[in-house]
Amino acid sequence: MSDTAEIQQSQEEGRRRLRPSLTDPSWLVLSKRREIFTQWLGRFDHSNAIVLDVGGRIQPYRSLINDRLSRYIAVDLRLTPLVDIVGNAAQLPFRSDCFDLVFCTQMLEYAPDPRQAIAEVHRVLKPGGFLLLSVPAVHPQDSERDAWRFLPAALRELLKEFSEVDLAPEGSSVTGLIRTINVCLVSFTSAVALQSLLRFTVVPMLNLLGTLSEMLKLTANTSFTANFSVLARK
Ligand SMILES: C[S@@+](CC[C@H](N)C(=O)[O-])C[C@H]1O[C@@H](n2cnc3c(N)ncnc32)[C@H](O)[C@@H]1O
Repeated sequence: MSDTAEIQQSQEEGRRRLRPSLTDPSWLVLSKRREIFTQWLGRFDHSNAIVLDVGGRIQPYRSLINDRLSRYIAVDLRLTPLVDIVGNAAQLPFRSDCFDLVFCTQMLEYAPDPRQAIAEVHRVLKPGGFLLLSVPAVHPQDSERDAWRFLPAALRELLKEFSEVDLAPEGSSVTGLIRTINVCLVSFTSAVALQSLLRFTVVPMLNLLGTLSEMLKLTANTSFTANFSVLARK
């Protein structure tokens, strides 16, 4: 595959994560995350910001601040055309106090030592700089390297060196339940034709049902919330 085609493929993957289709099993949480991140990022002036994306292979949230930043650096274990530096979150190859904003979305669950990864993010952030984190709380294991799930108490403990921590559930327990059913339906089905059928019938219906439940505020329960977003200030 040519470099241009690879860049387009990674960007397309990022776009699908930022603006998923209704047939995406994770539509509810991804849409909610976009809403939360847009709101949080809108609070700050990021002109001339130097941004780091840890696990930045596809950079779904880059376009939310694209026109306002000075530099965007992506570090990831895997080299793709969007990755600037191949590196490990456990030992970030940057000096201390140099980033205004760090994205770390859906990466921490793969870090063998999340405490170390967070300590590294804290080290490289400028004083007053922000971390935007998104982590799974409930999700079927997706690979052998998938190691952790995070609940609010653990997140607060992990982030205790930060001066402010704002935690937002990416939907209620109903969303968590529907997302889990969607993911299980699609990933436990090996027949491709049946998988497509589910994606175009049951998955969108359940996604719409979840939206209705959130709109009607049927529950504020978050004990089965699928993911949490976090805004933490150094
Ligand atoms: C599920 S993808 C998430 C991509 C993107 N951040 C997002 O929100 O969609 C996880 C990414 O984290 C990277 N990753 C996993 N462990 C890492 C580590 N210890 N250091 C740096 N990157 C890591 C993987 O290579 C992968 O690209």
